[in-house]
Amino acid sequence: MEIRIERQLSGVAVSVADVIEGYVRSGAVTLGLATGSSPIPAYRELIRRHREEDLSFARARAFLLDEYVGLPRSHPQSYYSVIRSDFVSHVDLADSAVQSPSGDAVDAAAEAARYDAAIHAAGGVDVQILGIGSNGHIGFNEPGEPLDSRTHVGVLAERTRQDNARFFGSLEEVPSQCITQGLGTIREAHHLVLVATGARKADALAAALHGEVTPDCPASVLQLHANVTVIADEAAAAGLYGAEIRAGQTA
Ligand code: F6R
Repeated sequence: MEIRIERQLSGVAVSVADVIEGYVRSGAVTLGLATGSSPIPAYRELIRRHREEDLSFARARAFLLDEYVGLPRSHPQSYYSVIRSDFVSHVDLADSAVQSPSGDAVDAAAEAARYDAAIHAAGGVDVQILGIGSNGHIGFNEPGEPLDSRTHVGVLAERTRQDNARFFGSLEEVPSQCITQGLGTIREAHHLVLVATGARKADALAAALHGEVTPDCPASVLQLHANVTVIADEAAAAGLYGAEIRAGQTA
């Protein structure tokens, strides 16, 4: 596992964008995209490189990690809409090349299974961007989730609903269910890139990287993956400071 700690948020953005750019420039690539606030500076940096440095996503395709159950695609907070307004609509990544589970499918469990199979049929994800929840979730795999789960319908933890209420008008408007890639599905990606910023993530990040591998901290599955890059700012990395980890260095 490579851990990069950056002093500035801009350094986190550049570092994440560097990894993604390497894949995108190497040819046809399947990206795994996260939503939420953590990857937004990196998406902005990739958009800048697209505009100013000829970085083209024309040969890329992408799969999202998750979606809220009950929100139509047209809802501004559906992850279908969010990833388009935060990233996809600003680059030359074809809209039809970006897949996500349908949050308003009549049979959500069947939709989850269909989506898992679609990722597999596409040959899997080459590089997966991940955020981490303050409770240690990745995707919407909440504490207690089996470490080998497939894409499934999940129930959002109350803490996650509270954390995400900032994107909605009120807590009541935050859906209570999701379709999320499972931990087993996420682990099949060739390269996992976890982005963590802010003090709110420090405890979860320390538990994920230094704690026991346990369903109580879903992000601890990263310890079981052979190709992981963690990119964090100093605040999120506060619990990681050890003998060999210092800001501005990799460990
Ligand atoms: C989003 C996702 C979530 C978020 C996590 C962190 O697609 O799967 O795991 O990455 O909740 O959210 P932010 O970045 O908003 O703190």
